[in-house]
Amino acid sequence: MKHKIHGRDEVWIYHPDDITHTLQNDNAIPVGGSTDLWSIHAYGQKKNFPFPLNASDESWRRTRMAIQKDIFPPQAAALYVPNLNEPAKRASKVFNKAPFDQLMPYTAFDLFANAILGKNFYSAEKSVDPNHQKDDSDLFVEHGMKALAEMIHLEIYMDNSHFPEFEKSMDTVIEYSEKFLLEASKKPDFAKGDSYFSRVVARKELEFKEIVSTVCSFLLAGVDTTTSLSLWILLNLGRFPEVQEKLYQEIASVVGDGPVTAKHIEQLQYMRQVLRESHRFTSNLAFTSARRLDHPIVLSGYEIPAGVKILFAPNAIQHDPRYVDEPEKFIPERWSKSAVAERTGTEREGIDGLVVSKPFGSGPRMCLGARLAEAEIRVFLCHLLRDWKFSWDPSVHKYQVIQNTFTLAAPFPEMKMMPR
Ligand code: HEM
Repeated sequence: MKHKIHGRDEVWIYHPDDITHTLQNDNAIPVGGSTDLWSIHAYGQKKNFPFPLNASDESWRRTRMAIQKDIFPPQAAALYVPNLNEPAKRASKVFNKAPFDQLMPYTAFDLFANAILGKNFYSAEKSVDPNHQKDDSDLFVEHGMKALAEMIHLEIYMDNSHFPEFEKSMDTVIEYSEKFLLEASKKPDFAKGDSYFSRVVARKELEFKEIVSTVCSFLLAGVDTTTSLSLWILLNLGRFPEVQEKLYQEIASVVGDGPVTAKHIEQLQYMRQVLRESHRFTSNLAFTSARRLDHPIVLSGYEIPAGVKILFAPNAIQHDPRYVDEPEKFIPERWSKSAVAERTGTEREGIDGLVVSKPFGSGPRMCLGARLAEAEIRVFLCHLLRDWKFSWDPSVHKYQVIQNTFTLAAPFPEMKMMPR
């Protein structure tokens, strides 16, 4: 599909073969989704504060190489699992106190802050405490979310009147990132700490300012994304109680009552299938990645000129009956190992490839926090399903699908909560 946005040509591609072909013929340093954010570049220039993760030059490669070691490989992400139990457990306990779409951003932030900063803010439980006085963590969360929302106004609607608000939120996020990082680094046990921050400092590959910039980029990239993905998973679990029950039984038998470990996560095979089906059934992103090549490329027989933005939108085939039987039904079992093996070698195997099966993009710019986000969501689901049975009635609670920064259900269905 080809269309123009703000006078520039864009091409949306759907077929996994076209996406793979684009990635195989990518520029030496890929240009696309996270680099085409002029608001971040304008802010960085004005404040003399670089954002190398959004760059498309050597500074990106150097920074990415230095920072990915402690977050991207599966073994690195697994190290955060034990500590995620505490924020997940505390957040889950208050999930009957407010609507899910109100609690989930705070929960995602609490999980993120535990792994990245090594700090428990308990912002989910504070958000439902009527006596809670707003503190630093509230400002950090609110401005992190606001900066991203304003950025979308600036990027998509080209509405420059939002720049002052964006600037204010970014200033706040940077101020608090610096403050929290300085506080953490002064703790006596910091050197042997197990947060992302203490690990990256121990490597001595980045300056303090570069680490602050990384934490800001992570915050902008890692909280709203986790929120939107989790909300669709929760909506589907509430809509299909039999799936929720089967998942609960798996959690009870694999994890039991104790803390969730990285080994448990590997063993939770039905959970993997539920998450995969939720991504197919209700994707949280209209497109998972984008590229601008410095040379022309032929995709599905059409020549795409150099410089045209190519957006990867593999969702369409996930609802195509040529690839998926009964696509309108929520069936996690279609992702069991035996079902995947049956598709291998047929045209249908396309839906099992990485470019389709995960919401994290692919190639050298693939989401740095993908495995951490997956661990956060899984640990949280274990705690939530052990504490609560929840459901909503589709004939009573109607929602619309809204395409905003993320794809959202609004109003988010009100859940009926029953303690386990
Ligand atoms: C469910 C949660 C998440 C989703 C759905 C998501 C999705 C994405 C996507 C689609 C991209 C673009 C990939 C590409 O261009 O090929 C991306 C990039 C990125 N994500 Fe995530 N993300 C999530 C969580 C996180 C978390 C928790 C962090 C950090 C702690 C993070 C950090 C980043 C960074 C730094 C980039 C830019 C990478 C680069 O350009 O080199 N994300 N993410």
